[in-house]
Order: sequence, then C-alpha cells, then structure tokens
Amino acid sequence: MPKLQLSRLALFSALSALTIAAPATAQNVIGSGVPASTAPNSTERPIAFAEQAPANAGLIILMESAALPATTTLSSAERTALEAAIASADFTGKMGSVLKLRGIGARPLIMLSGAAKPDDRGADWKSASGKAVQKLMTEDAELALVGPPDAAGMAEAALGLDLGQYRFDRYQTDVETALARQKVTVSGSQASAAQALWNNRHKHLADSVRMARDLQSEPANTLYPQSFVDRISAAFKGVPNIRIEILDEAAMRKMNMGAIVGVGQGSPRGSRMMVVRYTGGSGAPLALAGKGITFDTGGISIKPNKGMWAMKADMSGAAAVMGATLSLAKSRAPVNIVAVAALAENMPGANAQRPGDVVRTYGGKTIEILSTDAEGRLVLADAVQYVADRYKPFALVDIATLTGSVGRAVGDQYAGLFAREDAIADRLLKAADETGEHLWRLPLHPAYAKAIRSDIADVKNSGVTDAPGASAGAHFIGYFIDESMPWAHLDIAGVDWNNSAKPLTPKGASGYGVRLLDQLARDWTTN
Ligand code: BES
Ligand code: MN
Ligand code: ZN
Repeated sequence: MPKLQLSRLALFSALSALTIAAPATAQNVIGSGVPASTAPNSTERPIAFAEQAPANAGLIILMESAALPATTTLSSAERTALEAAIASADFTGKMGSVLKLRGIGARPLIMLSGAAKPDDRGADWKSASGKAVQKLMTEDAELALVGPPDAAGMAEAALGLDLGQYRFDRYQTDVETALARQKVTVSGSQASAAQALWNNRHKHLADSVRMARDLQSEPANTLYPQSFVDRISAAFKGVPNIRIEILDEAAMRKMNMGAIVGVGQGSPRGSRMMVVRYTGGSGAPLALAGKGITFDTGGISIKPNKGMWAMKADMSGAAAVMGATLSLAKSRAPVNIVAVAALAENMPGANAQRPGDVVRTYGGKTIEILSTDAEGRLVLADAVQYVADRYKPFALVDIATLTGSVGRAVGDQYAGLFAREDAIADRLLKAADETGEHLWRLPLHPAYAKAIRSDIADVKNSGVTDAPGASAGAHFIGYFIDESMPWAHLDIAGVDWNNSAKPLTPKGASGYGVRLLDQLARDWTTN
C-alpha cells in the first residue's frame, strides 16, 4: 500500500475513534455514573386543619402579646398555670421569643411562640410557627397549633410550619437523630376556610419554595443545565396554561448568544436557556430572568477553594423565577409571566473562554471579558435581551447571585435592589414587606454607567474601579435593557444561602425570591 494511503487510513481510524469516544463525554456529564441517592428527603410532619386541637397533642400557642389567645383548647386550670408561667418568665409575645413548658395538664408539652412584630405592626404568624416547629424537630409527639384568630392567619401559620421544617437529607444514610414525623394540626374556628386557602394557594407556594431549595441544595454533579431543565419540566407537567421553550447550545449559537455560550464553553455540560410562560391573565407578561450557573468555579479566573462548594447554589436566581412561576400557575393566579433561566456551568478547561476575549450578545452589543468569574452578568445579558425581544413584557425583573459585594454592603437580611425608577422599586419594596423577604435599595447612579465602558468593546464585565461592585453589576445588566422598559435587578448573593437558621428557613438553601416574586406578580395585576 502506498505511504499516503496508509496515513490516510491512520487518519480515518483516528477520526472514527473520536466518534466512538462520544459516549465517554456523556459519561463525563454524569460524572461517575453512580447516582448519589435515589431516595427522597425524609418524611416530615404532615399539616392538617381542624376546629378542635387533638386532645393529647403537644401544643404550640402563637402569641400576639403576653395575653393568651381566646381558644377553647385550654381548660381553665391550664390557663391559670400558663398565666403563672408567662408572668414568671416575663414572656412578652415578642417575635422570636419562645417558652417551652412541660407538666401542664395532660399535654406532653406546651410551647409559646411570640408573633408580635416590633412597633405594634401586627402578628407574623408564619415566622412564629416556623420558629416553633424548628424547636420541635426531634420532639417525638403529635402537635397542635392555636393562636391565629382567622383563616388567613391559620394558613400563614401552616406556611410557616411547612417552610420551617424543610430539610435536605436525601444523601444522608447514617443519621443519629430521627426527626419527628407526627402530624401537626392547625386549629381554630375557621379551620375549613383555612384549609381551602391552604389547598388553593399557600400549599403551592410552600411546594415551590421547597422545589427551589432542593435545586439549590443539589450538588453540581447531579444538577447541571440539562438536569435543571428536566427537573423544572417535570414540576410543570400537567399544570395548565404553561408553555415551555428550551434552547440548547446550537440554538443559542444560531441566535448569536455569544455571552451565555462563552460562559459554558469550558464545561462538557451544555448551556441551556429555559423559558416558561404562564398565561393566567390577559395582556403583556411580566418577565422574570434568573441567573442559573449550576456551578461557578470562576472559570480561568478561578476562585480560591475556600467556600467554593457554595457555588453549587449559583443558580438560586433561576430556581427563584421558576419557583415563583410554578406557585402562580398552580394557584391559578390571574397573571401572565414569562420566566427565563440562563443556565451554564462555569468551568476552566481547554476550550474555556479567557480574560480578554470579546463576545457578541443576542442583540449585537459586544462585551470584553476581563474576568471569567463575572459570568452571571454575561448569561443574563443574553437572557434579558432575548426575553424582551421575543415576549415584549411590560416590565422585567432579574434575580441573581451576582456579587460578593452586595453581602458586604447589606448583610444577610436584605437582598440588594436596583432600579432606574421609583415606581418599580416601590412595588418590590412593598412585596418584600408583605413576604418578609427583605430588600434594600442600592444606588444605580447614571454617573456609574460610564465605568463599565470597555476600551475595545462596548462594555467590560469586570475591572470597574469607579463604581461599587454590586452597582457595576447592575449597570452592566441594565446596559442590555431598553431605557423605556421598567426594570429591577435583585442581587441575592447575600441571602440565597443561610449560614444559620432563620424562622422560615433552616440552615442552608433559603429559596429566597420565590415568595417575593409571587407576591410582586399578584399585587401588580390586582392593584
Ligand atoms: N457567583 C459569584 C458571586 C457570589 C459570591 C455569590 C459569593 C454568592 C456568594 C459571581 O459570579 C462572582 O464571582 N462575582 C464576582 C464579580 C467580580 C469578578 C466582578 C465577585 O463578586 O467577586
Ligand atoms: Mn463568578
Ligand atoms: Zn457566579
């Protein structure tokens, strides 16, 4: 055989070996190929409603003040004993205070949990019940809850129970303390109205927050762009008035979405854009755009290892927009929503993008990449342009774990809110107040807009010295959104993950944003 033909043959067999090697890439996508668990999270206390509290259950009493609520559940002897305990412990009913008592009447325990918000601003039934149920996670007893005087308060209390007792333990095979699974009955005269409220609205909200927390908690070897898409698609299965659009990498490349494709190109797991539309009302939709980085190593601008594991939750914004949309759709809210998740894994690799690269975005604007670690604003640049162009929303809210800077500015009790106009900021601040998912408005001053300009492209994604970090990120996203579009940016990098428990959110994934965006959408169409 002539020499040339031989080497051609060699080349041919090398090429076919490459084709045959394709399954190896698929294997890489699922890592070891050994699922960490097929088990669900452990069973929690089921929530029930009844007019009368079961006789022998442990009792949670939510307190608006130091005075016991009017409830038929307590005998006069129990009341007298409780009043003595309240007086001697100086229990005021202030939100956050709890008093656990044993030996009163026939009940295994009675826990008083304060619900009074500061400055006489009413009762926070959900936080009070969340706090109480967390204190009783290992209490081996059936429970009953009393205190809220009406159906709305009872349903709120049930929401607190549900969110407060959340756990992510599906990977634990060797736990020492079993968590209690006996039911808890929310009791009061308006039980059937409360049950209806729960079934129609609060339960869907709680389930949606749980879905977001599950996704946040899931490690990046099991949660990557396509598996996120699969999980969300499954959650929406059978839900009416939903349409789902999924863009894979080839589709995004065709539409010149160079920013999101660039972020994902260092990873063998393809990037995705997932659009979920819910049509429950009429007119233009409200657009919600979420950052969905399923893991953020920083890419070539690699992060230090300390705390890097937490970057598995860098898709919290995407989880929040999908959670809010699921809650609105399942409770048949009269609103129109278009939610977009910009999904990619930010990895270093031979094909990863580099600092200095220039990419073009969906609308044609260009970006100079100064740090591959400022990737959230990149994936959102394509997502917000796409959703505005294709779905013509009346307003757009983006939500992202965008900067470490926001946590240093406002801590872990507030997410950062950025808006060009007061009107949309005020709507968000109101929804924040209603839900307890707090926001603090931060500056988006036009003077900072110049700071993100690049020497060789339109804008640069990092290296901004003349603006605060979180504001520079907000300006960058805003650069891709028409001035005429009401727009707000929520930077949730300080609140998506709790280092210690809060009443409605155990340590870990918070599901922040699901309740806030659900409330925003409802208020916007009904007011
Ligand atoms: N995902 C991070 C931000 C983050 C930090 C979220 C801590 C949650 C906790 C984001 O992609 C990032 O790396 N931001 C950089 C931006 C910088 C390179 C302009 C940051 O905050 O340092
Ligand atoms: Mn990053
Ligand atoms: Zn990130």
